[in-house]
Amino acid sequence: MGWKTLDDVAMAGKTVLVRVDINVPMESGRVTDSTRIDKIKPTVEDIIARGGKVVLLAHFDRPKGKVVPEMSLGHVKDALAASLGRKVVFGSDCIGAAAKAAIAAAGQGDVVLLENTRFHGGEEKNDPALAGEMAALGDLFVNDAFSAAHRAHASTEGLARLLPKAAGRLMEAELKALEAALGAPVRPVVAVVGGAKVSTKLDLLGNLVGRVDHLVIGGGMANTFLVAQGREVGTSLAERDMADTARAILAKAAAAGCTIHLPLDVVVARAFKAGAASETVDVGACPADAMILDAGPLTVAALTKVFETCKTLIWNGPLGAFEIEPFNPATNAAARVAADLTRAGKLVSVAGGGDTVAALNQAGAAADFTFISTAGGAFLEWMEGKTLPGVAALNA
Ligand code: 3PG
Repeated sequence: MGWKTLDDVAMAGKTVLVRVDINVPMESGRVTDSTRIDKIKPTVEDIIARGGKVVLLAHFDRPKGKVVPEMSLGHVKDALAASLGRKVVFGSDCIGAAAKAAIAAAGQGDVVLLENTRFHGGEEKNDPALAGEMAALGDLFVNDAFSAAHRAHASTEGLARLLPKAAGRLMEAELKALEAALGAPVRPVVAVVGGAKVSTKLDLLGNLVGRVDHLVIGGGMANTFLVAQGREVGTSLAERDMADTARAILAKAAAAGCTIHLPLDVVVARAFKAGAASETVDVGACPADAMILDAGPLTVAALTKVFETCKTLIWNGPLGAFEIEPFNPATNAAARVAADLTRAGKLVSVAGGGDTVAALNQAGAAADFTFISTAGGAFLEWMEGKTLPGVAALNA
């Protein structure tokens, strides 16, 4: 942890460029989930309390270097002002005269929001010229966008090299939680990894088997492992061409002393649709014309025992097709077990990734987890053991 926090830098009278991730979901021009906006409040308040002027830099969606009006951060301005309870002054560009004018117009305690950094092609190319133009706007750089830290962009990486820098409060909380979950965790550690495909999580599984004591594999990707063990999975989603890879992961886990937990029983159906008739069968007894859509109660009972023996849990991905009933019970039940153990002070639990957070919310378990990351891709890359450029630049 070589990075500085807001406590380590003087900011009275300074203009502080704060990279945030307010890439929030919107429908018909309205923000549908303001979590990411709400989470930057501690950083904004802290900087203002210390006498700094807050200038927010952020991306929104993927405009690919062009001005796309629907992707203007202007659409987020009102939600930001409502969440912060402060006046927000919007600058129609993140560099140059428009940015400077917005900063000059903002009074003490106001927050400046500059236009989408990705409207400039140089952002994603990490163009030093663009980073230099941003740096010219302020005295200090604070990165509070852990969820964008896997991108080596001008406003996440380049800028950190040009100004004195520190991690914002959310970045600090994310990094500390992830360190506690996987960097230097209290053992034993269990990782829960779900999701559709093994092929998208190979790096993740490869890293985890060397670092955790128990690895629970769920969702569609468990089917690929069942195929690798010669089990019948009917018409289930499974990557049969990944069977060798799955066997290699099982061997690597065995060599590393990591116990892999696959479903013991499964919920199967003939159709993948809400309310489809389903039955629970032993793993391996999936009828040829049915597909596996959730883990069964025996599996949940076994996972409960594993969770009870562990001190730390890290979770990415649902155990079944949780978004469709009746295929959410295993994810819900396991999430609630983790939440209860956490509330009882027996487990440190950290979760991240879009689907995961939605699943934990659905289970009513999210509030009891020790930490829920705001990140999707960045959380995954961190779990894969990759260096996140935005974090590395804070250390440089
Ligand atoms: C996210 O939503 O995960 C971050 O804002 C990063 O967005 P990106 O995948 O478009 O870089």
